[in-house]
Amino acid sequence: MIQTSKLTLLALPGLAVLTLAVQYARPSSAAPAIGDATAAIEADDDEEAGPLHESMEVIQRGMKGIRKMLSKPDQKDAAVKLCQEMQAAALVGFQNPPKPEAELDGDALVEFSADFRKRMLTVCSTLVDLEVALAKGDADSAKTIYRTLGKQKKEGHDAYL
Ligand code: HEM
Repeated sequence: MIQTSKLTLLALPGLAVLTLAVQYARPSSAAPAIGDATAAIEADDDEEAGPLHESMEVIQRGMKGIRKMLSKPDQKDAAVKLCQEMQAAALVGFQNPPKPEAELDGDALVEFSADFRKRMLTVCSTLVDLEVALAKGDADSAKTIYRTLGKQKKEGHDAYL
């Protein structure tokens, strides 16, 4: 009995991620903004560069757009929508880890991919925090969270580019 509930607890985070990924892949009427984000990614003209590159470009454009909206409560709705598009893009990145430059095997390869995916989930989670701060009109928090995203980008690129 105890074993079973432990297993259930262990499986829950994995299920949550799976649900998000499926929601992204098959946008439902319950998640219209995420569905819109799919369209935004597909509409880009640089598809040959691959889904990871595409997802990074969506996040990058979002960062530029949102910077100008951080202290503009009248642009709150647009900022929230942009955040949701960036979250969807981060999940596309999560689903498309890069290939290592050097040949890795065994545990090193597992670590390489797992660390990358956790970083992309962290970016996604931070973007949800940003969305909440913007929706509440909390410009101070939004600015702090925006800077955190900048750090996550730098650390991710130092490790993976
Ligand atoms: C706010 C967060 C981030 C932004 C705005 C961002 C932005 C970008 C941009 C603009 C590129 C294209 C660079 C170029 O072509 O010269 C890129 C590529 C890349 N980024 Fe990020 N990034 C972010 C977070 C991360 C994180 C956390 C990681 C690692 C976990 C990461 C890993 C990569 C990799 C591997 C590429 C190369 C992909 C490719 O071009 O095929 N990025 N990123």
